[in-house]
Parts: sequence; structure tokens; C-alpha cells
Amino acid sequence: MRSLLFVPADSEKKLDKGLSSGADALILDLEDSIAPERKAQARIGAAAFLRAARASANRPRLLVRVNSLSTGLTDDDLDAVVPAQPDAIMLPKAEGGASIMHLDAKLAVREAQANLPDGAVKIVAIATETASALFLAGSYRNASLRLSGLTWGAEDLSAELGAEANRDRDGHFLDPYRLARSLCIAGAASAGVQAIDTVYVDFRNTEGLKRESEEARRDGFTAKMAIHPAQVAVINAVFTPTSEQVAQARRVIAAFAASPGAGVVGIDGQMYDRPHLVRAQTLLARARAAGVE
Ligand code: COA
Ligand code: MG
Repeated sequence: MRSLLFVPADSEKKLDKGLSSGADALILDLEDSIAPERKAQARIGAAAFLRAARASANRPRLLVRVNSLSTGLTDDDLDAVVPAQPDAIMLPKAEGGASIMHLDAKLAVREAQANLPDGAVKIVAIATETASALFLAGSYRNASLRLSGLTWGAEDLSAELGAEANRDRDGHFLDPYRLARSLCIAGAASAGVQAIDTVYVDFRNTEGLKRESEEARRDGFTAKMAIHPAQVAVINAVFTPTSEQVAQARRVIAAFAASPGAGVVGIDGQMYDRPHLVRAQTLLARARAAGVE
């Protein structure tokens, strides 16, 4: 997944538009973009959309962002959507591996009730939305086999920290949010899951989005969330491996294949060891998923 587009689940129009947006994944939102009095309607909308969209060819991956475990709304959200078999649940305001185990148990029960295979529904967690969560970013490893990605958020965190802003005048994240971003990258790498960059809310600013996406890729993110369909093409372009990167990855893999058992090889006067091999394999897998290999 390179791009994950948020779609408020109470908007039939946006749900339909999301399907043709080119996003690798849609995040049907039951949380912050849905007013309390519309939660019930959004659950019904999400389930109906999941059932219909699952059947379409070349569909994006379908995630549902439920309300956080502290709201008392999560069970009703899961009861409504799990029988419609989303590919994953996005857990907002996650607080470390314990919250993932908690959600894992809730999912296991509902999968059994709906006759779905155990583990069919994956989890993507938003790992930095509370102050406590920052201190638990290293606890996701081995929490659940369902966990497939970590992302981060600056909006709820800045509210909790009592901050006046989360970006400077040039649009760069300020220190507490750069820390959250770094913890997300490290937490995801430690858990062996995909690191997904947060949203860029200034949705008419394509240049700013491109810059932030490139900085994310440079630092280890392999995807970014979007809030508007116009952001999808920019994000997909930035996170699609280039033909040069694919060719180089093939050379690294070929060099190791030509020297079985070698821990290190030389290519064009540069040293490549095992971590380079793993990186090359990961890049090829991403290129394959993006349809460019
Ligand atoms: N998914 C699908 N379609 C979307 C969309 C989205 N996230 N955002 C906008 N669209 C559609 C609009 O409905 C509109 O459709 P139309 O041409 O058929 O009328 C078209 O794209 C252009 O939208 P635009 O007029 O530029 O924006 P807007 O003012 O309608 O919407 C937002 C702006 C921010 C309200 C909207 O982008 C949105 O709802 N984003 C998602 C918010 C969200 O989920 N937040 C929670 C996570 S942070
Ligand atoms: Mg939020």
C-alpha cells in the first residue's frame, strides 16, 4: 500500500468517489470525521459499502477506522463491520502492544461468530495520538500477527499536549511531532510492519504534499495517508519505486545469488552486506505490489 485515502463512512458520495480515486486503500472512517449522532448511520454505510466493494475487481484494500478503545463505541463499530469482512481495522489512539492484543481478541470473537478465518482481519494502528502512546511506541513487536502497519497523528496529540501549533510557518512539523514521527518509524521497524506517514491537511497544496511525501520516503515510510482524492496521485508517484531503484535492487540480489553463503559482496566499488540484500528484496516486493516489476 502506498496511498490510504480517508473517506467519512456516512457519505455515500465520497465512498463511491473513493473507489475510483486510484488509492491503494480506503479508510472508511467511523471516528473523528463522524459526528456522534451519525455514528450509527456511518456503521451501516460502512458495512453496506464493504459488502458491495469487496466484490469489485481491482478494488482497493478496505480498512475501517473504528472509535478508540476508551470511547465505549468500539464494540458496536466492530459488530457492524467485521461480518462485512474489512481487510483491516485501523485503531486510533492506540497505546502500545497491549491495545493491539485487546483489539485482536475482539476481532477473534467476531471472526468466529461470522464464520471468517481466524486472523482474516488485520490491524493498522495510529501509534502517537496520546502522550502515553509515545512512551509505548516500542511495544508493538509480537503483539499480534494481525498487526500490519503503524501510522502516526499530530492533531490529537497536539490537543492533548496543549500546544498552540504542530507545524512552523513553513509547514514543517515542530519538535514534539517530529519525535512522534520518528517513534512511528522505529516502532514499525521493530515490529516488522509497514510505516505509514500521517495526513497532509492543506489539501490544495500539492507542492507541500510532494515535499512531505519525499521526506517521508527518505526516512523509511513506505506509504502516506490522504484526506482528499487529489492527493492520491502525488502520493502514489512518490512511493512507487523507480526503474533505477528496481534495477539496482536486482543487481544486489543477483550478486548475492552468485556468491551463495557470502555475507558481503562488492558492486562497482561499493560494499553490500545482508541489510542491503533485505532492503533490495523489500523494494522489489513494493515494486511488484505497485505493478512496476
Ligand atoms: N474521499 C472521497 N471523495 C472525496 C473526499 C474523500 N476523502 N474528499 C473530497 N471528495 C470528493 C468531494 O465529495 C467532491 O466530489 P464531487 O466533485 O462529486 O462534488 C470532490 O471530491 C472534490 O472535493 P472538494 O470540493 O475539493 O472538497 P470538499 O470541500 O468537498 O471536501 C473535505 C473537503 C476535507 C471535507 C473532504 O476532503 C473530506 O471529507 N476528507 C476526509 C476527511 C476525513 O476523513 N478526516 C478524518 C481523517 S484525518
Ligand atoms: Mg483523530
